[in-house]
Amino acid sequence: MTHPNDHGIEALGLAFPALALPCHELAALRGVDPAKYDKGLGVGHIALCAPDETVVTLAATAASRAIARWGGDVSRIGLIAVGSETAQDMSRPLSAFVAEKLGLVGTYRSYETKHACYGGTVALRQAVEWRASGAARGRVALVIAADEALYAEGDPGEPTQGAGAVAMIVGEPSVASVGLHSYAWAEPAFDFWRPVGEAYPRVDGPKSLDCYKRAAAECFGQLVSQRSAREVLFGYSRTCFHVPFPKMVQKASLHVCETLGLSAEEGQAFWAERVEPTMGWNRETGNSYTAALWVAVAHSLRGMSPGTRLAAFSYGSGYGSELLELSAGPLASAGAWSEDVETDLRKRQVLRAGEYAQLRHGRSHV
Ligand code: HMG
Repeated sequence: MTHPNDHGIEALGLAFPALALPCHELAALRGVDPAKYDKGLGVGHIALCAPDETVVTLAATAASRAIARWGGDVSRIGLIAVGSETAQDMSRPLSAFVAEKLGLVGTYRSYETKHACYGGTVALRQAVEWRASGAARGRVALVIAADEALYAEGDPGEPTQGAGAVAMIVGEPSVASVGLHSYAWAEPAFDFWRPVGEAYPRVDGPKSLDCYKRAAAECFGQLVSQRSAREVLFGYSRTCFHVPFPKMVQKASLHVCETLGLSAEEGQAFWAERVEPTMGWNRETGNSYTAALWVAVAHSLRGMSPGTRLAAFSYGSGYGSELLELSAGPLASAGAWSEDVETDLRKRQVLRAGEYAQLRHGRSHV
């Protein structure tokens, strides 16, 4: 069932950092068969921040691009929410850092949302519900999902690192409407977490894969309910997932199909036709945590004709998850935000293994 909404994404802006490491270079550095990263995990490049870049600069760049593309009066921004797990401070929200960089002062509510990779989706949902409640009184929200994902050197998660930011002006559904009904599932677990003061996450890898798959099955199960799973799943032109690494998405989408009773052939078709094509930018940028799902959504919306339906599954360790429905608006087909990605990927410096090792040593304080 589609639950259309008069509110949604009015403009989009993305930002990726200035450096990248091909995963085969990391494989050489760690003495790993490159096929493990390429075929086993499905990863291509890791986006990395240069020494003068932070989650704040990424978020502010994405936000300024979204605001420029929107073209509205910034005094109409009534809410700024940043979803992230790359906190800069235990008290001061990332939204204050971003607003300061952009010179935004005024009658807006400002805060940071945290629930691992799900934090950006929470911010978006709140903004959409704020608009739908009438409390926005016609104003728009600036929602940003931004992160830099780094693991300890040599950690199994290292090939899945990444960084990026997606900013959305939430208002009229010119780019996409966001359905008011969504399907959430949460279950407290320690699958991936980062204790206060520690530089890198602690991860129970196999458990994190199980939690992710379980969450996806629960959310899609609610969506399908008593209906034909095949019809529901193939009713979306694209289904985007949170992308820690593409192989995870493949495992989860096949698991969802199996759980819902689709045949192996139908599951393969769903993955190959509806899910795999969403991750073109994710493979080039890695896991950008809160931003990763919205990178896939932004990639998928380009070229869509108005009314084309898309599903988006958000997962955050800890764990919480939510499945959203979107419908392309009139500005989707032009896909103007592609320019941000093309510019950033064209301009970035591609590192060799030795340069990456030096960069990491220089950032041992991270
Ligand atoms: P690992 O243990 O080193 O890898 O790390 P593995 O031994 O399980 O191998 C991975 C795959 O490569 C396997 O494929 C191997 O067979 C294959 P599978 O059997 O799973 O299909 N492989 C090869 N393929 C071809 N040629 C070869 C070869 N060798 C092996 N020579 C792990 C994997 C995912 C655990 C690690 O990368 C990790 O810890 N990642 C971080 C955690 C993570 O991303 N979890 C995903 C779900 S949780 C989530 O998404 C939330 C998150 O984004 C955080 C948040 O919410 O904030 C992480």
